[in-house]
Amino acid sequence: MSSILPPPQRVWWKEPIEKIELAWIAIALVWSLILFFMMPYWHVFGKQNLSNEAYRISPAQFQAKAQEMVDKYTVRTETEQNVPVVHPPPGSDVYLIARLWSWWPILELEQGQSYRLHLSAMDYQHGFSLQPENINLQIVPGYEMVVTVAPNKTGSFAIVCNEYCGIGHHQMVSRMYVK
Ligand code: CUA
Repeated sequence: MSSILPPPQRVWWKEPIEKIELAWIAIALVWSLILFFMMPYWHVFGKQNLSNEAYRISPAQFQAKAQEMVDKYTVRTETEQNVPVVHPPPGSDVYLIARLWSWWPILELEQGQSYRLHLSAMDYQHGFSLQPENINLQIVPGYEMVVTVAPNKTGSFAIVCNEYCGIGHHQMVSRMYVK
């Protein structure tokens, strides 16, 4: 069919739908419904999509809160950047800053205790990914994500940024300790 000449049959699309086309429409519909209902299902029965709260907060306000915690509860520093390792009291509010291209500070939590973990970004969007637990949260400037965490095993856990945030994205790694 040429676009210069009008189609010989004007209403060319009006023909009975073919079985195979119908089958594909049905498959696509069913699959999209499965994916749609997987979202609430995975939230309830999975372990990776946490219930979180989000509040508006400016980067400066969030940084001030994190700084206050660091000033009070730093127990040592680690790495050549001298990142403070903070051991906050069980049950307290703990803060983790995401920025180009690091996490700050390093948190040291206690097994079996509950904490309110606050996360926010200072500049652009980052992704908090706790490994190997595979817990993932979007971290956005202007908002703090708050999750209640109760570590159930001890060890050293890796934190990686899983949202591409520029040239140093691959270096944006840290750790979290559970004692
Ligand atoms: Cu921060 Cu990628």
